[in-house]
Amino acid sequence: MITMYELIEKTKHGAELSAEEINWFVAGYVSGSIPDYQASAWLMAVCFSSLSDKETTDLTMAMARSGDMMKPDLDKFCADKHSTGGVGDKTTLITAPIAASCGIYVPKMSGRGLGHTGGTIDKLEAIPGFNTSLSYSEFMSCVKNVGFAVAGQTGSLVPADKKLYALRNATATVDSIPLICSSIMSKKLATGADGIVLDVKVGDGAFMKTEEDAEKLARAMVSVGTLAGRKCSAVLTDMDQPLGMAVGNSLEVIEAIETLKGNAPADLREVSLTLAAEMLRLAGKGSFEECFAMAENALTSGKALETLRRMISAQGGDPNVTEDYSLFGKASHTLEVFSDKDGFINKISCEETGMISLKLGAGRKSKEASIDPTAGIIFDKKVGDFVHKGERLGTLYTSTECEINELGEEFRSIFRIEPSLSGEKKKIIKKVIKGIDI
Ligand code: URA
Repeated sequence: MITMYELIEKTKHGAELSAEEINWFVAGYVSGSIPDYQASAWLMAVCFSSLSDKETTDLTMAMARSGDMMKPDLDKFCADKHSTGGVGDKTTLITAPIAASCGIYVPKMSGRGLGHTGGTIDKLEAIPGFNTSLSYSEFMSCVKNVGFAVAGQTGSLVPADKKLYALRNATATVDSIPLICSSIMSKKLATGADGIVLDVKVGDGAFMKTEEDAEKLARAMVSVGTLAGRKCSAVLTDMDQPLGMAVGNSLEVIEAIETLKGNAPADLREVSLTLAAEMLRLAGKGSFEECFAMAENALTSGKALETLRRMISAQGGDPNVTEDYSLFGKASHTLEVFSDKDGFINKISCEETGMISLKLGAGRKSKEASIDPTAGIIFDKKVGDFVHKGERLGTLYTSTECEINELGEEFRSIFRIEPSLSGEKKKIIKKVIKGIDI
């Protein structure tokens, strides 16, 4: 007979669990027969002793099978994209319409954000009328008609992750590579995509602070996806400063629309096109360079913007937001923040940006909290720029009760401004990790 005590002991001492033992754990935890205190002890043992590749794959598969496994009945390649999370990351709103307008399907099940800034669902809900609570058939009909759709994850998809993630959050066991890998990949495998592109963020605003750890996580996820029979690749991207110039829900949707109109900040454009090109490459549309050119063409021709408009309309939103940004509603308070010295910007703290944005109302302090769609930050400067004393660093927006002047002071302090530029310019795309045979 398998016992939880024995599993905790084995993992604590680095002994490998069998697939049967892992299946037993996942089924028992979901059904409630394994209590939180024993599951927590096992999760902590994983944090210290890690899991082998085989155990990570077995855990991912057991979690994926804990709920519905979607099998989209589609006549074209179906790709998914997932980011490990960062500040100002609105790439789904750009890559999905680009990839869809190049002839593949992107059925995107997405989450809400907790902490920092909103998730993709929160961003889209900043669009008046936009509905993210679609039934499965409404979701698939939007995918078939438009090429992509974005909906909230249903409760029946990977219940094991829902329960385990909440427990990890409360027991300081989130930052373990096999646990992050199984959490993300179980959801990706359950949604049934043929190809999965993972955007693994590296830097002070990401789970993975070093390139070495990010690469370990990326390799683990690509390996699990490939073993599960999916085409898979991972792109390591910089998160040592916010991505693009906008942070906050409606502000990020507007920046995504501007990007699709050709007015993108360089970093956001490069990450979005790279991810879209990887999705197309996995679909067999050509070499990376050919797919990149195809993605670029979808952007410059306006095809991707048109696809986004059609998707907004198909999900009940007002497509005129792409032309009239006043439809998003306006923040009741704004504050411009100016530099108090001359110099080069050598650092913008991503983590602090996330915290300020949360306090402005753009993020969620608890699961139940509501989000202020108008809240956020627009940066005027990025790392590497020179700033003069008195020049604007950025603007804060909020319609929420908060100490905006204090937040302005905090905002000024997230910039490290020095007389000369330090270090080399960081590459925004650090590495692409490809699965076998693709
Ligand atoms: N995102 C997830 O979905 N799961 C994790 O464990 C970490 C990030």
